[in-house]
Amino acid sequence: MELEAIRYSRGCLQILNQLLLPHQSLYEEIGSVNQGGEAIRAMKVRGAPAIAIVGCLSLAVELYAKGNVEQTVSNLEKFVLDSLCYLVSARPTAVNMARAAQDLGHFVCQEAKREGTTAESLRESVISWAEAMLDKDLKDNRSIGEHGACHLLQQVGQGNVTVLTHCNTGSLATAGYGTALGVIRSLHTMGRLERVYCTETRPYNQGARLTAYELVYEQIPATLITDSMAAVAMKEKKISAVFVGADRVVANGDTANKVGTYQLAIAAKHHGIPFYVAAPSTSCDLSLEHGGQIIIEERPSQELTDINGVRVAAPAIGVWNPAFDVTPHDLITGGIVTEFGVCAPAELQAVLTQAVKKV
Ligand code: MRU
Repeated sequence: MELEAIRYSRGCLQILNQLLLPHQSLYEEIGSVNQGGEAIRAMKVRGAPAIAIVGCLSLAVELYAKGNVEQTVSNLEKFVLDSLCYLVSARPTAVNMARAAQDLGHFVCQEAKREGTTAESLRESVISWAEAMLDKDLKDNRSIGEHGACHLLQQVGQGNVTVLTHCNTGSLATAGYGTALGVIRSLHTMGRLERVYCTETRPYNQGARLTAYELVYEQIPATLITDSMAAVAMKEKKISAVFVGADRVVANGDTANKVGTYQLAIAAKHHGIPFYVAAPSTSCDLSLEHGGQIIIEERPSQELTDINGVRVAAPAIGVWNPAFDVTPHDLITGGIVTEFGVCAPAELQAVLTQAVKKV
């Protein structure tokens, strides 16, 4: 059975508390927007697509619980818009929640204006909108997996491939299957994956705690390395490609992802190894022209100075802890893999605009 970060049935949302992994698998009930926002802020759930899905489903379960008693169209509309505003503030770099808020916000305003809309029908349509995100993300991830794997295999020809990845982009970060880890999963299913190297991903250890857990769970041949071993692994371990996820890909292809991604892209270029970003279109933000415009979340210093609550850094040292960095588009040499296929960073804008026209 595939790992599930999010369990949902109408009126009931549970998330796997990722703070407790890999030692404990505990599902926690999320019954309201406040609980959803808190879980995202505390990183019980993380990963750009999962943040948006849990945020919107927390709204769906609260709306479901509220029922229709004493509801009007306008107070429901206001509740949805206020809730979305609150959810967007939880984590600023990943664009998925902001995009979902914009789309759902627009949808709710249109629906509220439509003749014949009742509080009951509005509530129902917002819940259905949020529920559709789960299926769409899973479907998109399977396409990303297929496109990314086929693209790499076409480049290498015969033989198996060895891939390096960073952070966690798997079932735990999405509705299921994963993005960069989805590509790795597809390569494994095709029988073409020799091995995956996953980085520890300091300071929060999403690689060591979560990706390593998923890879062992799925019985995918995998080796854990520290972030500082990546360049030497590229030199000595016959790495065929690097696949990472994204928190925000902007119009020119510059990509914000977990801190450490940028240095991997530089090292990959030095070694002539193709560097791919795998992300659904929901992680793309064409409203920003270049990566310098992306807001980078800074996290508490204890994530760097402490391990498991025990201080390892010298007392009183200053700390800088950006959670993400931006990889310039010219370092994304393999391509950007979305549910629509693989494209060069310079083609992204056209690919996405074309896809929107088709819908
Ligand atoms: O701080 P996190 O754990 O939310 O960061 C996650 C990442 O950077 C992932 O690579 C990204 O969100 C893509 S997840 C499919």
